[in-house]
Amino acid sequence: MKVAFLGTGLMGLPMAQRLLQANVPLIAYNRTPEKLKPLQLLGAEIATKPYEAIRAADCVILMLTNTVAIYNVLLSDASLRYLKGRTVIQMGTITPSESQEIQETVITAGGEYIEAPVLGSIPEAETGNLIVMVGGEPNQYSKNLRLLRYFSPEPLLIGPVGSAAALKLALNQLIASLTTAFGMSLAFVQRQGVDVELFMKILRDSSLYAPTFDKKLQRMLDNDYENPNFPTKYLFKDTDLFLSEAESLGLNVSSVEGVRTLLKIAMNWGFANDDYSALFAAIKTDE
Ligand SMILES: NC(=O)c1ccc[n+]([C@@H]2O[C@H](COP(=O)([O-])OP(=O)(O)OC[C@H]3O[C@@H](n4cnc5c(N)ncnc54)[C@H](OP(=O)(O)O)[C@@H]3O)[C@@H](O)[C@H]2O)c1
Repeated sequence: MKVAFLGTGLMGLPMAQRLLQANVPLIAYNRTPEKLKPLQLLGAEIATKPYEAIRAADCVILMLTNTVAIYNVLLSDASLRYLKGRTVIQMGTITPSESQEIQETVITAGGEYIEAPVLGSIPEAETGNLIVMVGGEPNQYSKNLRLLRYFSPEPLLIGPVGSAAALKLALNQLIASLTTAFGMSLAFVQRQGVDVELFMKILRDSSLYAPTFDKKLQRMLDNDYENPNFPTKYLFKDTDLFLSEAESLGLNVSSVEGVRTLLKIAMNWGFANDDYSALFAAIKTDE
């Protein structure tokens, strides 16, 4: 089976590398062709247009930013012509309704579609330790399990298309809200002159603790948000996706709107491409 890998950015590149290291035949496309060089060195075929990759493959993996990118790459007239008989595995973070719309278009074009968004970042992508959540039918899950195991020891079937996208947004809402809540208490403790190590010791021993706090602590203390695995602009994107879905479900989203405001401020201050823990800078308004 040959795989077309479309979108070799921060996440797509290490994921495609894993397939090549396992000798899975692969043809790759990326809008910015320079990013394909490392894959070419590992023996990947390179496509200069998305449809060339789709035409040459049995299965199409997408690791693209958002639906605009997916429409450009997968659902253009040129690409749609070649979707017949192909299985599309959409792994980026989009909303359940967007995913279902793409599914309909792919099916109309004669293809199959599943969603498989991921939790985890570049280190997990490099080592095959992502949490892969699959939205699709049980038979589609079984058929694609072998391939998905290159990315995750235990890909999980969540339910029909839309359910895995929903779960992914729920988890990313937690990333945004937990980081904000931790940053707020950290800034408060600092301003009150309380010893940060003492605060962390009590927190670590309590049921309030989440491991992500320690992962972000040093960055926040040092104001060092460079070399991100997951940039602020993407947590902002996912927070917006969560808000649009949660509002349509009638939830009171006011706490998440506050988180969105902080992410927006961090982006306006030039942290869009830095680690999302830069929202700590937005919390400490006057520095
Ligand atoms: N980074 C993480 O830790 C992480 C974790 C879990 C999930 N995700 C999700 O995974 C997806 C990819 O994330 P990433 O971190 O790999 O992002 P990235 O490094 O920015 O890569 C995005 C990819 O989408 C392509 N793209 C963007 N806009 C396009 C357009 N209009 N037309 C064609 N191609 C376009 C980019 O092409 P160029 O190279 O030409 O820009 C690149 O290949 C996102 O949905 C993100 O939310 C990310």
